[in-house]
Amino acid sequence: MSQTNESWGSRIGLILAMAGNAVGLGNFLRFPVQAVQNGGGAFIIPYLVCFLLMGIPLLFIEWSSGRFGGKFGNHSTPYILDSMVKGRVLKYIGVFGIFTNIAVVSYYAYIESWTMSYVYHSLTGTFSGMSQSEVAGFFDSYIDIAHSTTGIPYEAVLFYILCLTINVYILSKGLKGVEKVAKIGMPLLILFGIILAARGYTLGTSGASETFPDANAWDGLNFLWTPQYSSLLDLKVWMAAAGQIFFTLSVGMGTIHCYAAYLKSKDDVALNAVSAGFMNEFVEVVLGSAIVIPIAAGYLGLDWVLNNAGFGMAFQTMPYLFQQWGPFLAAMAGFMWFGLLFFAGITSSLAMGTPWMGFMRDEFGWSSNKGAWTFGALALIMGLPTVFFYQQGVFDEYDYWAGTVSLVVFAMMETILFSWIFGMKKGWKEITDGADIVVPRIYKFIIKFITPVMLIVVFLGSVFAPKDNDWSGNFKSLFSGDGWALSNASIIKTISQSGLKEQLAVATDPMVIESLNDKMFYINMARIMLMGLFIFISLLVYLAFNKRRKEGRATL
Ligand code: TRP
Repeated sequence: MSQTNESWGSRIGLILAMAGNAVGLGNFLRFPVQAVQNGGGAFIIPYLVCFLLMGIPLLFIEWSSGRFGGKFGNHSTPYILDSMVKGRVLKYIGVFGIFTNIAVVSYYAYIESWTMSYVYHSLTGTFSGMSQSEVAGFFDSYIDIAHSTTGIPYEAVLFYILCLTINVYILSKGLKGVEKVAKIGMPLLILFGIILAARGYTLGTSGASETFPDANAWDGLNFLWTPQYSSLLDLKVWMAAAGQIFFTLSVGMGTIHCYAAYLKSKDDVALNAVSAGFMNEFVEVVLGSAIVIPIAAGYLGLDWVLNNAGFGMAFQTMPYLFQQWGPFLAAMAGFMWFGLLFFAGITSSLAMGTPWMGFMRDEFGWSSNKGAWTFGALALIMGLPTVFFYQQGVFDEYDYWAGTVSLVVFAMMETILFSWIFGMKKGWKEITDGADIVVPRIYKFIIKFITPVMLIVVFLGSVFAPKDNDWSGNFKSLFSGDGWALSNASIIKTISQSGLKEQLAVATDPMVIESLNDKMFYINMARIMLMGLFIFISLLVYLAFNKRRKEGRATL
């Protein structure tokens, strides 16, 4: 094993890197959309409960597991888990902790590359004088690679490759590079965020125009912040809240373990975990909710926002809204907004590179350079289909399996391993050893009982999501012997592509039929890619195991 003596340069560097890992596009683009789609104020309570009962416990688990594995020279989840619990197969659960990162970065870096291109276009004035629909059209044309009319041929592909190259270059400098980017990027991001959020909070009705006379930024904020207790019984809202907590905190994916494995054995984990977690929540709840929604509601009205909520919303609207502030301020605001997104994105995508690099170094003695470039190559192979076939749903397919389902599956398994197999007695010691805060004892109970149960419920809930989201009706029908009707959004029906098949069955227009068939083809291709990646990494874990056994280092 090539022993690494890499470790974090300073505590502040570590916390900023961890916060940078968590703070990402999810905070500014995914959170507002999730909140809006799940009833605004209806979303917030389940979201905060999930933060306290799943988010914080998982942060404790992952930080302390990582530091524990690091003591034995392990920096990625397969052998971090192996150092905690002996057993031949358990390390394969850790495959998720490398797989998810490579699969996610391949589409995540694509959005990250949009932000680079939009910084460029904001500064060069591409959007000046454009109408709302022209700005939206620019985005549509941008992602339509072959027919793009944005000015630069194959622009989306170029920026994607450029973005990956920047990531690889920084990663090749090792942990120091990551730490430096976090130290520059995070403060800038927070500064830009505060400036833009101040605008969101003070816009009021001043953005209303003849076309949208009722526009009012306060409507957006009120919608988000007026609690609606009725939603507490809606399981779908809980699922969405849990999913957002996973995604935003970067738990359930192996990056936190990896970062924490570079701690020294007596370093604090408890206070660090809580600090990075709360920093992420500040950026998400205070800044993330104060930009896109109120500014869009302030110019276009809340109804428009509710009807158009989606991932691309920020790209389709913000440049136009900024235009209303005059050409100079528009360029500055565009620079700040898309620059902020870029920093949020890159500090997360860098984190996604580290588990692969750590694994290849620990097991095969690879240098940072070699690790970084192969990571880039894997991301490129996985990512080009998301770029070229974005509209055929490859991107969404990756996001569903790697960015949503995998996180829940891995989080569930590692929590059970930690609290029940490693054991809560040892676990609690790992969490509190060297801690700079007193961890409330109630968390011992929460981590042992509440978190695993909640994770299992979330997992089963997504596997068996009922038709029309009607839980009580389906339970009644189940107990009276009439069975359980699955929703097309359930994992089971997603696997068989029921939704698409139903659409195909009723489609008559040959164009529609062709595009549905196309979609199915690309979705299957995306699945083959994802499965191939998973098998490839499992194979590497197997090879590493054999190698360790030959060298007499394997534990079983
Ligand atoms: N937490 C990041 C965000 O909010 C996203 C992220 C970082 C992520 N690493 C990940 C998501 C790995 C899934 C898998 O944007």
